[in-house]
Amino acid sequence: MENKLKTYNRIAAVVAFIGLPIFLWTLSDVPSRTFLKDAISLLTLIAFSCMLMQFYLARSNNKLLKVHRMGSVMKWHKAIGYVFVTVLLFHPLLIVVPRYFEAGIEREEAFVRMITTFDNPGIVLGLIAWCLMLILGLTSMLRKQLPITYKTWRIFHGILSIAFIVCASWHVIMLGRHIDMAMTLFMLTAATIGIFLLLRNYFLPTPKNA
Ligand code: HEM
Ligand code: HEM
Repeated sequence: MENKLKTYNRIAAVVAFIGLPIFLWTLSDVPSRTFLKDAISLLTLIAFSCMLMQFYLARSNNKLLKVHRMGSVMKWHKAIGYVFVTVLLFHPLLIVVPRYFEAGIEREEAFVRMITTFDNPGIVLGLIAWCLMLILGLTSMLRKQLPITYKTWRIFHGILSIAFIVCASWHVIMLGRHIDMAMTLFMLTAATIGIFLLLRNYFLPTPKNA
């Protein structure tokens, strides 16, 4: 029975955080572009959805995860974190990569212009989210070298995750090509419930998860 529940949980996670965004992406009525541009866009969207999933692969979701060993959940949390943080750190560069295959466009100039467009709130939010994500990755990688206790690090990591996901979601909703009402609803629901679970864990700790 326990093994069955574990399998159902894994299937539900894949369907909710990978299947659903892909499905909504295919439904959006945005005109398709080159294969490379569409592939990069889908990869970015899946990577972002996996960032949302991180909130559910944590102790704050322990009711749903009680059939799983926390050690194994954390293994997934760390692997997904490192892989998709890396993918998203390259996302601003990936936006201009397809231009290398188009004639007559200055790629470097386009990239610099994009990351210095400070009068576009969507770009500013992207830049803030990018910096927060870099700090999240670096402080996870160097956790053992930091002069703070594990508990303090965990709270720092949790609060940083909330600030990051708020800025990133706002950025994606403002700039995303494939972000229609259904996709917005998916992202806002996943982010809100994830943040709620974490804050409930901080403000209403039970002896098990304090
Ligand atoms: C980059 C690699 C990452 C590593 C190595 C990592 C590692 C960890 C570890 C060790 C914990 C503590 C688990 C526990 O003791 O309960 C944790 C918790 C958590 N992580 Fe990550 N993480 C990473 C990325 C992320 C990202 C990108 C997000 C969000 C987008 C995130 C969100 C969270 C949340 C919300 C918690 C729960 C904090 C708490 O219980 O106080 N993590 N992570
Ligand atoms: C230097 C920081 C950033 C810049 C300059 C930037 C720029 C952009 C631009 C211009 C778009 C629209 C792309 C298009 O229409 O093809 C976009 C979309 C997007 N961005 Fe960012 N971004 C940044 C950081 C981030 C971060 C940190 C994340 C996630 C954690 C993120 C996630 C996304 C997603 C998911 C999309 C939607 C893709 C789509 O709908 O096709 N971005 N970004």
